[in-house]
Amino acid sequence: METIKDLFHRKIDYVRISVTDRCNFRCTYCMPQGQFIPMSHTDILTFEEIERLCRVFVKVGIHKVKLTGGEPLARKNFISLVRKINQIEGIEQVTMTTNGSLLGGYVSELAEAGLAGINISLDTLKPDVFRKLTGTDELSNVLDAIHKTSRAGIPSVKINCVPMQGVNDDELCEIAAFAKDAPIEVRFIEMMPIGQGKGQAGIGEAEVRRKLEAVYGSLGPVDEQLGNGPASYVQPEGFQGHIGFISAISHKFCESCNRIRLTSDGILKPCLQYAGHVSLKELLRTNASDEQIEAVIRQTILEKPQCHQFRETNDADSKKELLEERIMAGIGG
Ligand code: 5AD
Ligand code: SF4
Repeated sequence: METIKDLFHRKIDYVRISVTDRCNFRCTYCMPQGQFIPMSHTDILTFEEIERLCRVFVKVGIHKVKLTGGEPLARKNFISLVRKINQIEGIEQVTMTTNGSLLGGYVSELAEAGLAGINISLDTLKPDVFRKLTGTDELSNVLDAIHKTSRAGIPSVKINCVPMQGVNDDELCEIAAFAKDAPIEVRFIEMMPIGQGKGQAGIGEAEVRRKLEAVYGSLGPVDEQLGNGPASYVQPEGFQGHIGFISAISHKFCESCNRIRLTSDGILKPCLQYAGHVSLKELLRTNASDEQIEAVIRQTILEKPQCHQFRETNDADSKKELLEERIMAGIGG
């Protein structure tokens, strides 16, 4: 099987593909609070274009695909895309992230389509906080979907939670409890200064650990084997699932980064923080051959930056023109 490494000897085998920048939520750390004008349908990649790119990704050495948004289930016929990508020879794993609100009705179809894993966002269990945070009253639908999903036979179910000072800091243990009675991974994601997340008060990993240990006792050693992404996992005594920490700020994980990203309008990004780079959409729409597209993907991987500079770029002197100004929904968190 083909593999590819970048200049820093990192094996790149995973692509996150945003299938739409549209979302029925308006999470404060992701979407602008005023009017949001989504991209026009002609600007985003068609399913045929995404499929073709996946075939080329396989040739380069990328065998795992995560479908994200915006909200992927807000795009019509999303499940047919899951099915088609899964059928491509050389694709080992198709997974998705979702806000969970539209998920309930699709769980069994997604399982049948061969979805290997699903990440559901859940920042609070309080309806009033949920409304403030997302602009919706969908909490009960999200909770129903989580329960359905954990029984549907999708191999991996994860909950993503962004801890925030004064918002959900008193609920983190309760949210972690989803990993207690079911084989679910609950991951705490440090707020990243991307898009609306800039200037928002997140809570660092150390403080989240302290809160959890006060209730669940020692979290135990990190499980080195689990997952293929940036999370480090622990399993407190008596838990069926694990608790994970994705700590881009306090524990940079760039040296083991294995991914590239494709935005909904077809820009290939070698690093979340840097503004992209090459438009694969333009290549697709000017009749480039698969070989030409493959060469551009290889070159972009070679040019993958060594590390993000989330901390450094809070200083005035950094190279701001290189950095990402888009909102998260367009990039695909
Ligand atoms: N910082 C951290 N996580 C974020 N997400 C979206 N924006 C940010 C941000 N600025 C997360 C969502 C979701 C995942 C896809 O990305 O909570 O779980
Ligand atoms: Fe939608 Fe996810 Fe962004 Fe929330 S974080 S607005 S659910 S894309």
